[in-house]
Amino acid sequence: MKQPVTNEQLNDRRAGAIPKGQASLTSCYIQSGKGALVYDVEGREYVDFSGGIAVMNVGHSHPKVVAAIKDQAEKFTHTCFMVMPYEHAIALAEKLQAVVPGHFAKSTLFINSGAEAVENAVKIARYYTKRPAVIAFEHSFHGRTMLGMTLTSKVKPYKYGFGPFVPEVYHMPYAYCYRCPFNLEYPACGVSCADYLHEFFLSHVAPESTAALIAEPIQGEGGFITPPLEYFPKLKKICEDNGILFIADEIQTGMGRTGTMFAMEHYQVEADLTTVAKSLAAGMPLSAVVGRKDLMDSVHPGGIGGTYGGNPVSCSAALAVMEIFESENLLEKAQRLGTKLRSRLDQFKEKYELVGDVRGIGPMLAMELVKDRKTKTPAADDAKALLKYCFDRGLIVLACGGYGNVIRLLMPLVIEDDQLEKGLSILEEGLSALNR
Ligand SMILES: Cc1ncc(COP(=O)(O)O)c(C=O)c1O
Repeated sequence: MKQPVTNEQLNDRRAGAIPKGQASLTSCYIQSGKGALVYDVEGREYVDFSGGIAVMNVGHSHPKVVAAIKDQAEKFTHTCFMVMPYEHAIALAEKLQAVVPGHFAKSTLFINSGAEAVENAVKIARYYTKRPAVIAFEHSFHGRTMLGMTLTSKVKPYKYGFGPFVPEVYHMPYAYCYRCPFNLEYPACGVSCADYLHEFFLSHVAPESTAALIAEPIQGEGGFITPPLEYFPKLKKICEDNGILFIADEIQTGMGRTGTMFAMEHYQVEADLTTVAKSLAAGMPLSAVVGRKDLMDSVHPGGIGGTYGGNPVSCSAALAVMEIFESENLLEKAQRLGTKLRSRLDQFKEKYELVGDVRGIGPMLAMELVKDRKTKTPAADDAKALLKYCFDRGLIVLACGGYGNVIRLLMPLVIEDDQLEKGLSILEEGLSALNR
């Protein structure tokens, strides 16, 4: 079939239409997607190991999501929940509250993007505690709005040139065991990086001034940095002892990405506030703050919300996503996928010197590439070359990490075996070609 446009033509038009700052990883334009496959405007097929950056856990254009969107669009697309509310936003809140960790009464605020969820979680924490400060972590990513960017640690490209930033945000080291900021080794370290919070209170910010600590259970953009299981329970306890709220930013780790609905389940920590976005509505813009009801209800009417928050079409898509998790046993599928991926990545590490570390939980896994396993010199250029090698052969895969040297896997959880095998084979060929 003759395609109406080529990738090259679209690239030329793009230059005159879209700012350079909104850069794209690939120079090919999607025509359609199905499950874990996408097709560009020239009809080329790609296995998608990126899932639109952790958004397509249920796969591209899942028929149930498509049907839900169509059905809702025919009824109504917008009223503004703050003007004329609708039942299915309430139903979605109830469903989310049943799966977000926490044996306490909850309430849910719907907004549009991950950054907006983070902003609102901090607003609620500040309002409730009447304290100004927020502690975030080195290597964190929390979005591109002014507060999201302030909470984010990585300077380039996220913060450089965009300051001044929001006051009263403090960053403490994270449990990056592969490159321990304290030069210790797990488990002999006793996870003392969590105890360091006590020291942090002495030299950075008083606990009495701190409204919340915000943490990603596994740092996504930061390099899939995965703390030991003791880390978050320790931090949570220190927070509790000091009246500091614990915000789990589950925007990338949530919705089954780690084999449980939320990653904090692995750590057995019940956050006071949890932010959810990305795979929540299979690509429709929707995010949420799910939190302790007493905190959520503390804010005066009109203090939180927004024109599009909890858009009816997005809520319908999210309800379909929740249904798919149940009817397709997606968590079990995710766990099986995680086991397969882990064994392949471990093999890659055995075979290729370039792979310095394999980490993550369930199917949220990554490989950190290094020039030399002793010096751990980051191999960012190799990571870049690997992405290109893969893309040229029909695999979309992403890098992350402060040095850009971490290859992360975020394929739809519904990926079929042959598609997975195809993608992993391309990845392995690339590693083999680059390995010195
Ligand atoms: C952990 C985390 N928080 C917040 C965000 C920001 O989400 P959004 O891009 O939807 O604003 C992201 C996006 O990558 C994320 O991974």
